[in-house]
Amino acid sequence: MTETTDKSSNVVWHQSTVSRKRREEKNNHKSVVLWFTGLSGSGKSTLAHAVEEQLYQLGLNTFVLDGDNVRHGLNKDLGFNDQERKENIRRISEAAKLMLEAGIITLTAFISPFKEEREMARSLMPHGDFIEIHCYCPLEVCEKRDVKGLYKRARNGEIKDFTGISSPYEAPVKPELKVDTNAQTLEEAAQQVIALLHERHILPENK
Ligand code: ADX
Repeated sequence: MTETTDKSSNVVWHQSTVSRKRREEKNNHKSVVLWFTGLSGSGKSTLAHAVEEQLYQLGLNTFVLDGDNVRHGLNKDLGFNDQERKENIRRISEAAKLMLEAGIITLTAFISPFKEEREMARSLMPHGDFIEIHCYCPLEVCEKRDVKGLYKRARNGEIKDFTGISSPYEAPVKPELKVDTNAQTLEEAAQQVIALLHERHILPENK
């Protein structure tokens, strides 16, 4: 079911007259994909939403694609074995690519544990439009936080293939940004992300 084969032959790409460039000009900001990766409980969603809130208040067009939310709808047919996680990330990266075209600052918050899938996502976007942000937090701390009570259940053997316990997490080697959600406050981490967006000239000069 999760094996993806290319069955889309005989389809022709339709070029929109309303291009990404025109949308960006109308928005007065660039679009980009901010790809947050990290263990469950590392603070990806919290940070992505905090950054989004700030950008929204500046009047920018934003959207967060969040692991738990997307798994309630688009990806509700997927579980957590390696193949299903790969398919999860494949669909998300395609969705993020569409949102990039739509001129939106897109923030994704998925564990995305495999380096290969993150690199695949990166390869879908034009160079510089994919910004990988590692939400680093030691496993012990994530486990201690255990916001959703899932680590405890995973340790008890009630959840299989749990990232960090019974399924691997491959940390990014050279992310564009690494935040330490154990050592930094949420405000500090969010500020680092915003600073990077300024550095990359994604936000307008006056914001
Ligand atoms: S990913 O690995 O495929 O990128 P994703 O980010 O979509 O994962 O979903 C992770 C969320 O699903 C976690 O934050 C957690 O709430 C929940 N979850 C349920 N089962 C698992 C599991 N086996 N491993 C990790 N997270 C799980």
